[in-house]
Amino acid sequence: MWSARQRSFRGFLRNYRTIIGEDVLRDQLETIKREGRYRSFLTPDRIAGRYPQGQFQPFADNDPRAQRIVTSYCSNDYLSMGQHPVVISAMLAVLRTHGVGSGGTRNISGTCSYHTSLEQELASLHQAEKAVLFSSCFVANEAAISTLGKSLPGCVIFSDENNHASLIGGVRHSGCRKHIFRHNDVKHLASLLAQTDPAVPKIIVFESVYSMSGAVSPIAEICDLADQYGAMTFLDEVHAVGLYGPTGAGMADHLHVGHRPTIISGTLSKGFGVYGGYIATNSVICDTVRSCAPGFIFTSSIPPAVAAGALSSIRHLRTCSIARTALHQKAQLLKRLLLEANIRFTEHGTHIVTILIGDPVQSRRVSEMLLRQYGMYVQHINFPTVPRGTERLRITPGPTHANYMLHQLVMALKEVLAVSGRQGTVPVGSSSESNIQ
Ligand SMILES: Cc1ncc(COP(=O)(O)O)c(C=O)c1O
Repeated sequence: MWSARQRSFRGFLRNYRTIIGEDVLRDQLETIKREGRYRSFLTPDRIAGRYPQGQFQPFADNDPRAQRIVTSYCSNDYLSMGQHPVVISAMLAVLRTHGVGSGGTRNISGTCSYHTSLEQELASLHQAEKAVLFSSCFVANEAAISTLGKSLPGCVIFSDENNHASLIGGVRHSGCRKHIFRHNDVKHLASLLAQTDPAVPKIIVFESVYSMSGAVSPIAEICDLADQYGAMTFLDEVHAVGLYGPTGAGMADHLHVGHRPTIISGTLSKGFGVYGGYIATNSVICDTVRSCAPGFIFTSSIPPAVAAGALSSIRHLRTCSIARTALHQKAQLLKRLLLEANIRFTEHGTHIVTILIGDPVQSRRVSEMLLRQYGMYVQHINFPTVPRGTERLRITPGPTHANYMLHQLVMALKEVLAVSGRQGTVPVGSSSESNIQ
């Protein structure tokens, strides 16, 4: 037992340590605020049936310019499947019959028929032997790459310099030797592969559609190199599944190379509009990951209703391309309108449209003006999501944007960019980013 004196001394030490730690944290937060990177989360409550409109109380009630209904132009629910009646009724039915939570980890009482059906559907979507479900694709990427890297003695990983944080995390936690290749630069990747011992296992990690620029990777060329050097490929299709290919299997499938990547990872929360993540690959890799990855083993499985909603969304999008076609039409219309308005943007032929601002304070300002004055929600994207100096607006037009909404957005953009003195700056960053003047 501690005496009262000892207890009080321990309390003093604990407080003392906390105060020192808090000072450091406060200083760091001050720096973040000074650099215009402090994140305040907006609360646009989406209205099912009326999306992309949402209810929103962004500013004080006495602000005459406050807008209550805003139109969102930056959601990753790319196809509006998050409000699709098929998905909503599938989820409601399972909520009523099976309740809310899954009740456990996959191994201990947390697997239900919806999890296994969903894994089978995902394997079939990607024409893979098997799929493994995770609570998100962040977890899927981190868990699968780190587990594979640890399981393959001497493995060397080759990672695109613009890869998402979840892929970077996976590479780091694998403990493997790594090479970072220049963004989408096949020649650089080839030279790094050529310098590596032919006998060691290798994994090339990259994305199909890069989320912050919309750039597409040279999937076929990277798979050619993988074949030449005996490497596995890990392709993140997070911003492509549901959206590209005749059945929504992603960009690789759209480019007729869907069978080539060794492992495809995807999310259920963007194109499919629900929640969760997965990998689809061969049985040996799936079995290794589900047997060894802590991110799969030691966490509760996704709720049955979530699995059922994702399953119904995937099944719907495999056979119905109305939303997919509309998404690409809206993206084309937006780009045409931006061109006509002489607003510069990055163009990679995908659904992601970015306008480079190049300054954290200005990008926040432009975004706030759109929201306050026009009731339009376009999130500014700042460091660390994008490199410093490449701060941007990221617009994701979707099938539920009426044409007039895109016209209104471009008119508003023209005005706010003029006020801020930025007509969309010349893009900086990756060399593959092109710009339409
Ligand atoms: C390229 C990429 N991979 C993985 C993820 C993580 O996906 P999830 O939202 O399912 O965790 C994201 C999230 O935005 C992403 O952009």
